[in-house]
Amino acid sequence: MSVDVAIIGGCGHVGLPLGVALADRGLTVELVDINASAVDLVNQGVLPFVEPGAAEVLENVLAADRLHATTDTAAVGRAEYVVVVIGTPIDEHLNPDLNAVHETIAEIAAELVDGQVLVLRSTVYPGVTAMVEQLVARMGLDVDVAFCPERIAEGKAMTELYELPQIVASCSPRALERATKLFRNLTHEVIFLEPEEAELAKLFTNTWRYIRFATANQLFMMANDFGLDYERIRAALAYNYPRAADLPGAGFAAGPCLFKDTMQLAAFNNHNFHLGQAAVMINEGLPLYVVARLEQRFDLSEMTVGILGMSFKADSDDIRSSLSYKLKRILRFKAADVLCHDPRVTVDPDLVELDEVLARADLLVIGAPHPMYADVEIETPVVDIWNLRADGVMV
Ligand SMILES: NC(=O)c1ccc[n+]([C@@H]2O[C@H](COP(=O)([O-])OP(=O)(O)OC[C@H]3O[C@@H](n4cnc5c(N)ncnc54)[C@H](O)[C@@H]3O)[C@@H](O)[C@H]2O)c1
Repeated sequence: MSVDVAIIGGCGHVGLPLGVALADRGLTVELVDINASAVDLVNQGVLPFVEPGAAEVLENVLAADRLHATTDTAAVGRAEYVVVVIGTPIDEHLNPDLNAVHETIAEIAAELVDGQVLVLRSTVYPGVTAMVEQLVARMGLDVDVAFCPERIAEGKAMTELYELPQIVASCSPRALERATKLFRNLTHEVIFLEPEEAELAKLFTNTWRYIRFATANQLFMMANDFGLDYERIRAALAYNYPRAADLPGAGFAAGPCLFKDTMQLAAFNNHNFHLGQAAVMINEGLPLYVVARLEQRFDLSEMTVGILGMSFKADSDDIRSSLSYKLKRILRFKAADVLCHDPRVTVDPDLVELDEVLARADLLVIGAPHPMYADVEIETPVVDIWNLRADGVMV
């Protein structure tokens, strides 16, 4: 084998930091991706998205000739480890697209060779690892299959890849051993599970986080409806009281994983997952709640509303499933005009400069709590469910 690792989906949010980190630890890495423009950017040393700390390491590993990106799947045949980390979306019925991983493996099937390790790293529906094992066996290949879920948070990859324990799962002891060897390049802590346990562990992780945010958001709405400040209550109840200190603040809980993985888990349980479905109603309902409350105090039809922050979370340029865009769609229906700003997002041609939003908007809503919005001088009323600013008005 002429390279250590080929990563399918290697220029994505999970694949690229992983490839860069492995190359930084001395392995040779081929990033295989169908996104030709991302491949070009990476080969030029440019990150296609914001990931703090990754740019410097990318530059170093490119200079050392340990990492290369390509659209050519032939790279797969040259690697000892083939890591699959493509997106695993849900469909219009909120069911996981079970073919996502299969189709990708079918695309690279001709390149797979005996003796390789195939590592699934996408978040997958329970049973997918076993199905892939069968698929590979039916192809007559002697390839070890393991599932090693990614648990990093976007924006923290370059620290969490080294700090978080790695869950490693496989039916085969040899695959377990070889997958463990790969991840020991990044972390010393490895946890072994059966494949279905590991698949559920990843879904439980994201679902738990999503439900916690929903709990906070529902408590926020309760307090707010009662004319009380959720953050004052939260600060008081958590003060020197560790049992309650993990109650999150309110905010738009969204992004590419939490909702989708909660729905994967619901589908796994025949759509019988009341807590998860309630979390969706609460989190997805929050932008509607904010607008409904604003309508009680303002004649939005006469107003220009500005949204500050369009990414799905602070310090990110990722707008996938961002609730700021849901808020924008609702407001476009209700308000005279809507203006949006984000200091990080580069893919939305409709964004306007901050000065223009501040000059023209009659009312502002913080959509994503980028730290820069904490200190901007604002004359207009600003709705801040995140508690970023001292002068935020109640919704
Ligand atoms: N984003 C996160 O924070 C995060 C964290 C943990 C786990 N995950 C999981 O990791 C997986 C990937 O998520 P992501 O956020 O990196 O998605 P992404 O869309 O950023 O990356 C996926 C990449 O795969 C590429 N791709 C798609 N089909 C391909 C194919 N057939 N061959 C080669 N490349 C292909 C895309 O062009 C893209 O660059 C998902 O299962 C997700 O749930 C994501």
